Amino acid sequence: MSRCIWILSILSSWLCMSETTAQYTPDWKSLDSRPLPKWYDEAKVGIFVHWGVFSVPGFGSEWFWWNWQGGKDPALVSFMEKNYPPGFTYPDFAPDFRATFFDPNEWAALFESAGAKYVVLTTKHHEGFTNWGSPFSWNWNSVDTGPHMDLTGELMDAIRNKSLHYGVYNSLYEWFNPMYLSDKKNGFKTQEFPHNKLLPELYNLVVRYKPDLIWSDGDWEAPDTYWNSTEFLAWLYNESPVKDVVVTNDRWGAGCACKHGGYFNCADKFTPGTLPTHKWEKCQSVDTHSWGYRRNMRLHELMNLPAIIQDLVETVALGGNYLLNVGPTPDGMIPAVFQDRLTGMGEWLKVNGEAIYASKPWRVQNETATLPVWYTSKDSSVYAIIIGKPTEYMFQLTTPKTTDKMVVTMLGVSAVLRWSPSHPTGLTVLLPEIPDSPGRAWTLKLQGAS
Ligand SMILES: *[C@@H]1O[C@H](CO)[C@@H](O)[C@H](O)[C@H]1NC(C)=O
Ligand SMILES: *[C@@H]1O[C@H](CO)[C@@H](O)[C@H](O)[C@H]1NC(C)=O
Ligand SMILES: *[C@@H]1O[C@H](CO)[C@@H](O)[C@H](O)[C@H]1NC(C)=O
Repeated sequence: MSRCIWILSILSSWLCMSETTAQYTPDWKSLDSRPLPKWYDEAKVGIFVHWGVFSVPGFGSEWFWWNWQGGKDPALVSFMEKNYPPGFTYPDFAPDFRATFFDPNEWAALFESAGAKYVVLTTKHHEGFTNWGSPFSWNWNSVDTGPHMDLTGELMDAIRNKSLHYGVYNSLYEWFNPMYLSDKKNGFKTQEFPHNKLLPELYNLVVRYKPDLIWSDGDWEAPDTYWNSTEFLAWLYNESPVKDVVVTNDRWGAGCACKHGGYFNCADKFTPGTLPTHKWEKCQSVDTHSWGYRRNMRLHELMNLPAIIQDLVETVALGGNYLLNVGPTPDGMIPAVFQDRLTGMGEWLKVNGEAIYASKPWRVQNETATLPVWYTSKDSSVYAIIIGKPTEYMFQLTTPKTTDKMVVTMLGVSAVLRWSPSHPTGLTVLLPEIPDSPGRAWTLKLQGAS
């Protein structure tokens, strides 16, 4: 071995070591300084799955239990009075959570065909029911009751078999957990619930399934010190089996959202008006009324494909990831109308994905000359994604700076397009015959624009 190579190899192993032994301390300053693992920003598109006992009543939303017995919503109170015997309790729904037709490989194939690069399952929602055999959730989990299956593990195997990333949604609080309610009564000065239930369960979940992403939720009633969030995250980033790949969001205690953690969700369905300086994710649900399955959903309450594509494009142009949610039935079926939306998104991405995956926000995010246009960029190309079908053959873009050597194409069309510069910046493109696109958005690729 030559001396030079020898020195290089020592240097690089030193560099690698200093990277893997980076120690984070349990405080936000240190934890917030951790770079987000690269896979996440490149992935751009994920699927969110809300599935639990709430899927059984399938009415109102996944907040059914709380809205019925906590909030006493008259619609839910009368729904229960009309349809269930007196004394019927929420846990009585669990035996009907059967997952009869659940085929994890079919789900994984659907999510892959949707163009998703990661999938996030509600392993435990606010109801506290775990979709895996948690040793800390006796008789209130999917192995002891309901489907008698490790739903979290079965879906994980199928998702990983497709080389997609697997994430777990975990609610910190549990609406009616007696330990939680007692801590709450004590003004969160006691920590019975996090010490005896939440944290042991969360450590167990991570060690057992080695998730690529933890989608934390249900944090807002108590400060991060009550949840021991910074201690948990320091362990997650320093010592856990997923320390180098795991990504987290920002729901780790009252006041944390949009401020601390990994990437930011801010609020549900939040979209920033301008380009944020921090990586973020928009979570959105095909059913605009609920994240969980509703038996009484109607077509006009669902997002149509063009609305989904527009939302996805705007999110990615603004530097975000797009996490699109579906609620499976208690039988384990993904309603056909959701399948239609997901495969539609995948068809659009097959043609236009080059402008989405691993793209970066451009120096300008959007413009509107005739139709709304959102920009992304990658390497030496700028992508102008047109929302809606242009009605004229001459299409104007006002922002790009052109050079003589610039090549303009439309994704999905092989011909090179003619264009002419306008002054002081921008260009007019002679569009080709516009191909059919059920997502109703088309991408112009400008190679060499700036
Ligand atoms: C993984 O997928 C392949 C085909 O893509 C299939 O043959 C195999 O059975 C799958 N493995 C598991 C564990 O599901
Ligand atoms: C929670 O944090 C406290 C210090 O604030 C620590 O003493 C305790 O061990 C932590 N518990 C867990 C389960 O992480
Ligand atoms: C960019 O998009 C935002 C949000 O849709 C819109 O309010 C704004 O007018 C757009 N700007 C331009 C120049 O089109």
